Amino acid sequence: MQHTSPDPVDLLKIAVDIARRAADTASRMRAEAVSADIGTKSTDTDVVTAADRAVERQVAEELRALRPGDALLGEEYGSTEAAGDAAVRWIVDPIDGTVNYLYGLPQYAVSLAAEVNGVVVAGVVRNAATGDEWTATLGGGAFHDGRPVRGSRQTVLGQALIGTGFGYDAARRVHQAAVLSGLLPHVRDIRRWGAASLDLCFAAEGLIDAYYEKGLNPWDHAAGGLVAREAGLTVAGLAGAEPGLPMVIAAPPALFGPLHDRLVALDASGGA
Ligand code: IPD
Repeated sequence: MQHTSPDPVDLLKIAVDIARRAADTASRMRAEAVSADIGTKSTDTDVVTAADRAVERQVAEELRALRPGDALLGEEYGSTEAAGDAAVRWIVDPIDGTVNYLYGLPQYAVSLAAEVNGVVVAGVVRNAATGDEWTATLGGGAFHDGRPVRGSRQTVLGQALIGTGFGYDAARRVHQAAVLSGLLPHVRDIRRWGAASLDLCFAAEGLIDAYYEKGLNPWDHAAGGLVAREAGLTVAGLAGAEPGLPMVIAAPPALFGPLHDRLVALDASGGA
């Protein structure tokens, strides 16, 4: 049976409503944990895990109620298949920036994207600590709290402020650190905020000139990647690959080539 594709604007409306409630749950759970004066780091970590799971469950339940046939891919619970031959898959990171959440640093976000036939067509990233919200639909532009955003116009790598991040695995970090030390002499400086979805939104509005990271999962970059792309950035992997686990680069078109080539020279998608 032939389905008409859902309108990205309708999918975005659903995503935004759900992400706002999800962000409220994340910040409420953190406030409750803090007021309960949790003493040890291991208990703190449990609070993060509990919040991550509760938020993803809430998102999944709300999506199921509104769009029962759709598939879902989430950081905590993996993937659920579509009930029928539905073309829509939702991709959720319930709390991106979990270490910031743990420490109370105000950069943690709910990231929710909708894919139609494998292409991300709508996405929202909501900073649960500050309420800042970035949205995009495919072909419809990128917005921060409703205001259109554009990426940096920087063209010179040596003058570019570059965001990045690191995985959790120690062996991967050894390689990521080597890449970073090779890149640092060739750029203005480096920023590491600790939430990939927000890094992509910061790049989308030119707060940094470009961003790269190896090891990102779809829930880390699906929504933020669309925001960055719709803000005029090139979002891709290495050597023409789609953005994915080996590499995600988001950069203004003129900066993409120099950054890409430097990352290739440093074997940035190699290592563990
Ligand atoms: C992590 C953050 C971090 C990035 C890591 C991600 P999480 O996601 O986005 O900035 O460097 O690669 O795994 O664990 O906080 O959801």
